[in-house]
Amino acid sequence: MKKNLPLLFLLLAGVLSPVARADEGMWLPALISQRIGDMQAKGFRLTAEDIYSVNQASLKDAVVLFGGGCTGELVSADGLLLTNHHCGYSYIQKHSSIAHDYLKDGFWAMDRSGELPNKGLTVSFLDRMEDVTGIVLQGYDERTMDERQRDSVVHANGARLIRQAVADGKGLRASVEALFYGNAYYLFVYRVFSDVRLVAAPPSSIGKFGGDTDNWMWPRHTGDFSIFRIYADKDNNPAEYAPDNVPYHPKKFFRISRAGVQEGDFTMIYGCPGSTKEYVTSDEVRYVSETSDPRKIALRTLRLDIQKKYMDADPAVRIQYASKNASVANAWKKWQGEARGIARMKTVAAKEAYERCFRQWAEGTAYEGVLDTLARWYAIRNPYYLASEYYVETARSVELLQLAAAVENALSTAKEPSAAVGELADAFFKDWYLPIDRESFDALMEAFAREVPAELQPAFFKEILKEKGSVAAIGDELFGQSLFTDAARVKALTKADLEQVRQDPACRLQRAFYAWYKEELMPVVGAANERIRLAYRRYMRGQMAFEPDKVFYPDANLTLRVAYGHVKGYSPADGAYYPPVSTVKGIIEKDNPDIYDYDIPQRLRDLYARGGIDTQPVCFLATNHTSGGNSGSPVLNADGDLVGINFDRVWEGTMSDIAYDPAFCRNISLDIRYLLFVVEHIGGAGWLLDEMQFTDPPAKKGKRRAI
Ligand code: ARG
Ligand code: ASP
Repeated sequence: MKKNLPLLFLLLAGVLSPVARADEGMWLPALISQRIGDMQAKGFRLTAEDIYSVNQASLKDAVVLFGGGCTGELVSADGLLLTNHHCGYSYIQKHSSIAHDYLKDGFWAMDRSGELPNKGLTVSFLDRMEDVTGIVLQGYDERTMDERQRDSVVHANGARLIRQAVADGKGLRASVEALFYGNAYYLFVYRVFSDVRLVAAPPSSIGKFGGDTDNWMWPRHTGDFSIFRIYADKDNNPAEYAPDNVPYHPKKFFRISRAGVQEGDFTMIYGCPGSTKEYVTSDEVRYVSETSDPRKIALRTLRLDIQKKYMDADPAVRIQYASKNASVANAWKKWQGEARGIARMKTVAAKEAYERCFRQWAEGTAYEGVLDTLARWYAIRNPYYLASEYYVETARSVELLQLAAAVENALSTAKEPSAAVGELADAFFKDWYLPIDRESFDALMEAFAREVPAELQPAFFKEILKEKGSVAAIGDELFGQSLFTDAARVKALTKADLEQVRQDPACRLQRAFYAWYKEELMPVVGAANERIRLAYRRYMRGQMAFEPDKVFYPDANLTLRVAYGHVKGYSPADGAYYPPVSTVKGIIEKDNPDIYDYDIPQRLRDLYARGGIDTQPVCFLATNHTSGGNSGSPVLNADGDLVGINFDRVWEGTMSDIAYDPAFCRNISLDIRYLLFVVEHIGGAGWLLDEMQFTDPPAKKGKRRAI
């Protein structure tokens, strides 16, 4: 009874979140029955069994984890798959050269024989997910065992579950994932397909329209899609690439609705958000938003400025660094929105208020002291952790050092060292431009020398810095003497050269940094993180006990989730309001032949001039709670039909990985009708539409223009 008094007070004081705040949440499909009532109340017309079922084909069977960190969806009985342009980007880039610049010009297979294989690309279908908490903890006794023993029980039981799960069936992969910081464990079983071919990609002037200027922003006009096809063996099973593999026939694929969306419409996102931390303490939020984000932003600004200078000057360099630049820029911009969003929401203060109440409530319970434990370990960890973040953003980002490490490793461990080194060298030198790496080295290592506390810097680095007098002098020697700047020399290396390679200045420098990271930083960071992880298990349980009526969703971990919400505009700032739909008219407004990222294809200009497409929707906003990894996710309407492809969030709402604000958090989706328009009228690849299924009656051939 006593415990409920502060609770009531908290609710009145507004410190606690009301149960299931508007549209927040990334829900486990297997538990969607907990939410289905709310979803239906908000307009959804299907059932929990339609979303996820182990007995019959359900929507989940049309969704895949695409590569290592995106989502994709099936849209035909012949394995046709949609995802984002930026998710297919590195594959499109690998097929590109000045002669065949698919990044710039787009790529359209004109029949199945023209589809291009992609080494290393896989897609994973979730076969099933299962709560295995009881099995994973079998044999664990809280009274007699410590955490280490618990871990080994969890590990052994988990390994057994995984072995059993993959025992029968081709291409099966399984994992046991801790949810709620190890308060629950789920088994995920996937079928992994590895013959995935590129079918189509629009030119970057559509697929990446607006580039990094528009990235994370609204109003948005990016046609961020690419199209792939999954191939299988003759029995429809996963198989390595083989020319005679056949298109995969999925259990389920999405029908496409061309009816469009309107403000207020129900939307559901089915995909694989990568990582969120909604339940962390104020200390962690403060560290992220006030220290980590700003420091990393500054380091990346240095790199981006250097890349831009050379990319603007030379189209070949622009291709070489397109993918690298996009990924450096992407997090750089997200962190800015995140830090600002957290400051605007006053998340640190809100968490502190929550923690004061929690502490009071927790007195005399099993949760007493857990916040102190967390605070203590954060204080120990953070200086070392920050140094490790500096390492990742500086020495570890120098490409020459990355190559040196990879080659040294290949020579000492690969089965066929020369072949492995040859492959590494080919991939590296295709996309490496020495002046960028050279200048980045100086800028990054100078920042490292200046900003990382001297007592935490590696002794080796401090010594050579003293000896050579400046970072630039270290750089001169490194880039002047290392064999790794010379493609021919690298390709000629054999195992017999291992000792010489080890003595190379690039290997020595990278080894020194790595040793420092592993031996000086990681022991502290690792031990602290371990304590933090354990404390969070308790704190998470405590938060659930503290707010017994709230339905919690587990933090994202790249497993399949359902988010639902509705189409909605937002006000980014005082005096401004953004409606939720953008149209082709806006593309024409932004069109500018003098700016690379806004220079649209002439074909689009011509089509526009013919009239009738200015109201064609391009992108739309909704309130779905998404994260990195949700890119490429299907956006479904109330009937479970495909209306869009998710690809981004608005900048003012990127703190949703830590705190969701219904006023600012919006996901950005491509309107599926713009995809259809581009495929048919820009790509001339209307043959792809013939295998899709539409909810409206099929337009007569040749009459599709009026989409
Ligand atoms: N912001 C989106 C996401 O996080 C899209 C990134 C790709 N686009 C870019 N211009 N870098 O992945
Ligand atoms: N663009 C992100 C992705 O690639 C999605 C997001 O962060 O909202 O997954």
